[in-house]
Amino acid sequence: MTGSFSELIEKKKQGRELTDEELAAWIDGVVGGSIPEYQTSAMLMAIYFRGMSPHETSRLTYCIAHSGDVIDLSSLHGIKADKHSSGGVADTVSIPLIAVAASCGALMPKMSGRGLGHTGGTIDKLEAIPGFNVNLSPSAFMDIVSRLGGAIIAQTSDIAVADKKLYALRDVTATVDSVPLIASSIMGKKLASGADVIVLDVKWGTGAFMETREAATALARTMVDIGEDNGKRTVAYVTDMNEPLGNAVGNALEVLEAVQVLKGQGPQKLVDVILTLCGEILLQSGITETIEQGRQRAREAIESGRALHRFASIVQAQGGDPAFIDSPQLLPQAAVRLQVTAPRDGIITRIDARRVGVAAMHLGAGRRTKEDSIDLSVGLTMAVKTGDVVRVGQPVATIHARSLDEARVCEEELKSALSLGETPVPRWQAIVAKISRADGVIVFK
Ligand code: URA
Ligand code: CA
Repeated sequence: MTGSFSELIEKKKQGRELTDEELAAWIDGVVGGSIPEYQTSAMLMAIYFRGMSPHETSRLTYCIAHSGDVIDLSSLHGIKADKHSSGGVADTVSIPLIAVAASCGALMPKMSGRGLGHTGGTIDKLEAIPGFNVNLSPSAFMDIVSRLGGAIIAQTSDIAVADKKLYALRDVTATVDSVPLIASSIMGKKLASGADVIVLDVKWGTGAFMETREAATALARTMVDIGEDNGKRTVAYVTDMNEPLGNAVGNALEVLEAVQVLKGQGPQKLVDVILTLCGEILLQSGITETIEQGRQRAREAIESGRALHRFASIVQAQGGDPAFIDSPQLLPQAAVRLQVTAPRDGIITRIDARRVGVAAMHLGAGRRTKEDSIDLSVGLTMAVKTGDVVRVGQPVATIHARSLDEARVCEEELKSALSLGETPVPRWQAIVAKISRADGVIVFK
């Protein structure tokens, strides 16, 4: 890079494209500390207002991916697949999905994160399982994936080092909600995770990062372009997060919901998303020829009990005791259960996913800030979906709390998250679009 970094800020401020070398110099300077945070903050704001071209976005992502360790998965023979969710409420997809896909022959070495705010995280959920180790050594991780087809570990701090610094600055400079910055942040970590295939679940709605279908679709397109530009087969689905996806919100409760899914008793909407993402993974991994065949394989893996058995094997291999699968009381249990019932006859016209997530966070299931500790036992289980007809006194949710006082507070929050009306409303469609380079945007009606 010639000249000072302020010239690059000026260039972006004028809406011009940064070169590959300029982007690399910026990210090097972020990681090495030679570019001060106030200059990076100004650059982030310039990007926020001016955006980035598709090429710039892909190159920025490449630089973020290479700012830390890039996982070498070459000792695993076959196509490796990864899945990412942009975050949601009752979004218990990854845990059952890995078991189902692995039992169908896919290879899924998965690195996951923790929950923040109203959204949950896979690593927190897995820690509800007694003994489960989310910090395996790289060799133990690879060994389990090669034997069982899947394992899930916490993303290490050496992955995409620049992303942590950039995200911390975005968080305090009002520059989080920028498509190129979100897309490069997520995809930087995915590229560093080393898989060949990336299947993205981009949520839209009240409980999602992206509140409209259009915004979610735009983010999905950008991430697909980044993945493909960097040599990864990348497919994205846009899915509903206006209401909670499954029924369970809270860590131990979501592990139980994962078991329900694997026993063939999961909530339909959650199962639908899992089957579709699994179908896509099997297709992209060359295991089936169509997504419908992939979905069928996934369904059979659940119905035959193979997926549940594989889940037990993965849990055991990661140091966990699979006994909870048949004895749920072995998972952390909250002291108090409180049933919330419908105050009158009516139709559920709204279940605000974000408010439900926040209510669970207030119980202790989630973190307000990264430093907060969480209680793995607490949360809530929803018994209704938008569009359901309910009778007075019918249970709509069960709250699992540490005390009756906390349960009562949650009950009030939950009531404000739900609306009861007289006029029928349409149900939220689980999967609204698929985005791939080959087919562009396919909207599902
Ligand atoms: N998730 C991320 O990892 N990064 C973002 O910028 C937004 C969501
Ligand atoms: Ca999640």
